[in-house]
Amino acid sequence: MTSPPLWDLPALAVAPSILAGDFAAFGDEAESVEAAGADLLHVDAMDGHFVRNLTFGPQTVRAIRARTRLPLDVHLMIAPPEPFIEEFADAGADGITIHAEATPHLDRALTMIAERGVRPGVAIAPATPPDALSFVLHRVALICVMTVNPGFGGQAFLPNAEDKIAAVRHLVGDRPIRVEADGGITAHTAPGAKAAGANVIVSGSAVFKANDRAAAIAALRAA
Ligand code: DX5
Ligand code: ZN
Repeated sequence: MTSPPLWDLPALAVAPSILAGDFAAFGDEAESVEAAGADLLHVDAMDGHFVRNLTFGPQTVRAIRARTRLPLDVHLMIAPPEPFIEEFADAGADGITIHAEATPHLDRALTMIAERGVRPGVAIAPATPPDALSFVLHRVALICVMTVNPGFGGQAFLPNAEDKIAAVRHLVGDRPIRVEADGGITAHTAPGAKAAGANVIVSGSAVFKANDRAAAIAALRAA
């Protein structure tokens, strides 16, 4: 069995989510957070079916790709994800994360991502137990622990989210899998997420709505 391609990132990576950016100016927004010190750009694709919100598809990812050197961490909130994997890969995604809840054929879908040379990720919504990941650990470069219910930015970090991150970190052990916390991360909630074992911090509102984005990213890194 071949291993999936892995992420080469700093020990703690900060990934601003462009969902909180200006939808009329994604190129400028990507350039802005690259200059402000982001490590990754998190891109939330939503289908209006898996989640009750619609964002954008591969063409938008391709347009953003042309405007930044940041690796694109594409989070698909699409069910089923399989019909779109190839298009998002071709659009320039560096990582594609799919939801465990979004397909009955998670193993195959993750393999499809790896076969395109893209880093496979699996996300779990708040009610999904970490056990759902046990038999795909060898397939993934990243596990996205949703720390809010997926669908919208600007929600509050869930009270039991740190326990969930810790349970996933325990499951991962010393495998080279990145553990990403996504949703409601601010300078206030980041320390708990990191202490619980997250090493990729996604943040939408706390970065894009800040007056000083570089300071906001630095605060998340330092928190
Ligand atoms: C939620 C998205 C998150 C969101 C985070 O469904 O997956 O990535 O953009 O935004 P904040 O940081 O505002 O909660
Ligand atoms: Zn996301």
